[in-house]
Amino acid sequence: DNGAHVPALVIGTGYGGSVAALRLAQAGVDVHMIEMGMAWDTPGSDGKIFCNTTTPDQRSYWLRTKTKQPLSNFLGFPIDKDIPRYTGILDAEDMGGIIVYQGRGVGGGSLVNGGMAVTPRRANFAAILPSVDAEEMYGTYYPRANAGLGVGLIDPAWFDTVDCYQFARVGRKHAQRSGFPFVFVPDVYDWDYMKQEAAGTVPKSAVAGEILYGNNHGKKSLQKTYLAQARATGRVTISPLHKVTSVSPAPGGGYTVVIEQIDTTGATTATKTVVAAKVFFAAGSVGTSKLLVRLKATGALPALNGEIGKGWGDNGNVMCGRANHMWDPTGKVQASIPCGGIDNWDAGGAFAEVAPLPTGIETYASFYLSITKNPHRAEFTYNAASGSVELNWQTAWKQPSIDMAKTIFDKINSKEGTIYRTDLFGLNKIWGDHLTYHPLGGAVLNKATDNYGRLHGYTGLYVIDGALIPGNTSVNPFVTITALAERNIEKIIATDL
Ligand code: FDA
Repeated sequence: DNGAHVPALVIGTGYGGSVAALRLAQAGVDVHMIEMGMAWDTPGSDGKIFCNTTTPDQRSYWLRTKTKQPLSNFLGFPIDKDIPRYTGILDAEDMGGIIVYQGRGVGGGSLVNGGMAVTPRRANFAAILPSVDAEEMYGTYYPRANAGLGVGLIDPAWFDTVDCYQFARVGRKHAQRSGFPFVFVPDVYDWDYMKQEAAGTVPKSAVAGEILYGNNHGKKSLQKTYLAQARATGRVTISPLHKVTSVSPAPGGGYTVVIEQIDTTGATTATKTVVAAKVFFAAGSVGTSKLLVRLKATGALPALNGEIGKGWGDNGNVMCGRANHMWDPTGKVQASIPCGGIDNWDAGGAFAEVAPLPTGIETYASFYLSITKNPHRAEFTYNAASGSVELNWQTAWKQPSIDMAKTIFDKINSKEGTIYRTDLFGLNKIWGDHLTYHPLGGAVLNKATDNYGRLHGYTGLYVIDGALIPGNTSVNPFVTITALAERNIEKIIATDL
């Protein structure tokens, strides 16, 4: 309510925000969560909450009049289509040199992501966040995060026989024949449910290609895990379609938080002000960075330090496809949930997910999302003339990622006598180098904040999301974001309440 006082306000309902809310509530603190996206708890006119990747409607994109599919073309033809402008679930946010895909709604990225739940190798984690005690992370917080998220592994015997993972078996065969290890990757999808989907005994979700615009069944999004537990405490309130626009010190102590209520066209319908004793920035790497950079530059939080907005990276994401021979079909029906990857991190700086291409037809294509050790880091700055926050990432900075991905796919192509697909990202374009699914950094741990996410300059302000991680995690990031949030909130509850 306008004018309310709250003990803890959390901006955003993704991984960092959900961990903070649950643990604070369990410690007896009342928590108010503010989420700019929709609740995603009510079916549309087709009886489903989420729309399918093959039939995107208004629910698919955040305030766009045309879809912005990561794979923009097929056989050279553009495949994007007109949609009504609406507060849909997937934001393809254009930051100039890069399009950053993000989930919008209660559950954040967990609503739209592939659910690949990967714990990095310990040496890689230690190199990325040297100020964090790796012993504690691997002994306590990674296991806690994996349990809280409901992480599980595909049954390898089922994998070997089921039609919907033929694409992944082809990916494994080609990797292994070129001498690369193929590793199974855990996921938060309910694997027993998927077995029933494949057997035709329950409504299909992953096997029907649902993913980017939400899964109607099977996927254990945060709505089903951390947020369900948080709500069950009775101490957590969530306000969807509310966007935080300002945080500044309140005259009597705590922080004044300005919140705009929006409708499904994105128009502001009300502006509310609350006072919060503690504020947790969990708006995602881009959301948190944009807020903090603006608040520092415009004088709302001038004492934030010079590290704000720095250290942003794309987790080295780059996509490509390979054209297989006719004797290596990848399957008409492909489960939308990836379950394996090719690990060439140490030798070539790349970890490639064998990704599905669920088109409903046989494409003879293998598709990959690579995570690479890209060294480039970008910075967010405030442009006073336009009143917007900008990111100085350049498309050409993807070249090291392409080179690292090529250490895998050039070798496979040469061994198999195959070529790259050139029709998926435009005309005669091999590399999907225009995007990231994994934005990280902008308020890096132990730089913009102390070693537990407390923002320098202001007591009671915290960062607890992907903004803390300096640009790369060596694998898919959400388990690390969750584990780090578990570590930090435990310390904050023990010492700051
Ligand atoms: P997250 O982005 O989850 O949450 C932030 C929330 O804050 C959002 O709900 C947003 O709407 C809200 N918000 C932002 N600004 C706000 C404001 N001013 N006021 C109120 N609310 C605001 N990772 C992985 O590990 N495995 C995978 O398989 C995949 N796959 C994948 C696919 C796709 C298509 C995408 C887009 C992403 C992935 N990811 C992934 C990445 C993963 O989803 C991502 O790293 C996490 O969701 C980030 O978690 P955070 O808690 O940092 O923020």
